Amino acid sequence: MNQPLHPSAKTFEFAAELLVRGCLVAFPTETVYGLGADARNPEALTRIFRAKGRPADHPLIVHLGSADQIEHWAHDIPDQAWKMAECFWPGPLTLILKRAPDVPELVTGGQNTVGLRIPAHPVALELLKTFGSGIAAPSANRFGRVSPTAAAHVIAELGDAVDCIIDGGACSVGLESTILDLSGTSARLLRPGAVTADALANILGTAPNMEATANAPRVSGSLPSHYAPDTPLRLLEATAIEPTVRALLAEGMSVVLLSMRQPPNAQLDACRWFPMPPDAAAYAQILYARLHEADALGCDRILIERPPAASEWTAVLNRLERSAARPHQ
Ligand code: TXA
Ligand code: MG
Repeated sequence: MNQPLHPSAKTFEFAAELLVRGCLVAFPTETVYGLGADARNPEALTRIFRAKGRPADHPLIVHLGSADQIEHWAHDIPDQAWKMAECFWPGPLTLILKRAPDVPELVTGGQNTVGLRIPAHPVALELLKTFGSGIAAPSANRFGRVSPTAAAHVIAELGDAVDCIIDGGACSVGLESTILDLSGTSARLLRPGAVTADALANILGTAPNMEATANAPRVSGSLPSHYAPDTPLRLLEATAIEPTVRALLAEGMSVVLLSMRQPPNAQLDACRWFPMPPDAAAYAQILYARLHEADALGCDRILIERPPAASEWTAVLNRLERSAARPHQ
C-alpha cells in the first residue's frame, strides 16, 4: 500500500531522486494533484500514459520552477507570454507556446507546441527546485475521471502505479489550470479555470478567442465527456430538483444531491444531501472532493443543482457539464 509522504527536506531529496531514475511522483499543486515524471525522459513519460490509461497523443503540461526556464522548452516566445508569466505565475495558468526542438514528442503529443506552467504550491515549487528541471504532470487520475484534490484521491485512483505520493493537504483552487494558447496569431482560451477570461483580457488588452477551431490542438479536458464519476450524474435547475428526486426515489433509486439550498421537503430525507457553498471559488475548491465522496456512496444517481450562469462560475460549469456528459444511460 502506497503511503503518502509528508513534505520534508528528506522527502524532496527522495522524490527528486525517484524522478531522476525515471519513476512517477504524485505531488500537490494549487489546482489538483499532478502525476509527475521527468519531462526529458521518454521512458518515464511512457509510464505516465500507462498509469493513467491515457492516449499517447494527448500532450502533457511541463511544470517549471522559474520563468527563466521557459526558454529551455519554448521558441519564438511572444512578449505577451512573458507578460502573462509575470502577472500570473506562480499560479493556475498554463501557457501553450511553440515548442523548442528537443522537447520529447510524448510531452507535446506530436504537436508543434508545448504547455508550460509554474504552480503556486510550496510543495510543488520545492520539488521543482530540488529536481532542477521540468516535471511533466497531468492530473493524477485515470483518463476521463475526476481529478484528485487530496492525496487520498490519488491513492484511490492510481494506488501502486505511483512510486511516491507527497501529501500537501487539500488543493486550494480545486479545478485544473486555465489554458491559454499563445502559439498562434491570436490568443485562445482552451480551458477555463481560476484565471478568468476577464483577467486575461485585462493583461492581453483584448479578449482571448474562445471558439474551438477545426485545427485546435488536442485538449483532453475539452472532450465532451471528462471529469466523470462512475455514478451517472445529472445537472438540474433548482426548480427541477424536488420532482426529479421524488421520481427517482419512487423508482427505488438511491440519490445524492449536491445543491446550495437544502432540499425543500422533509420527504427528501431519503436522499443524501451535500451542501455546496454559494461562492464560486469556495465551490470550486471542494467540488471534486464532493464528487469523489458522492461516487464512493455507490448510489444510483448524483444530482447537482446548476450554478448561476454568471462569469465567475464559468470554470465550475464547464467541469460540471463535462461530468454530466458521460454516456451512462
Ligand atoms: O492544473 C493543471 O493544469 C493540472 C496540474 C497538475 O498542473 N494538470 C492538468 O493536466 O490538468 P492534464 O494533463 O490533466 O490536463 C492538461 C491539459 C490536457 O487537456 C492537454 O491536452 C492540454 O492540457 N495540453 C497540454 N499541452 C498542450 C498543448 N501543447 N496544446 C494543447 N493542449 C495542451
Ligand atoms: Mg486531467
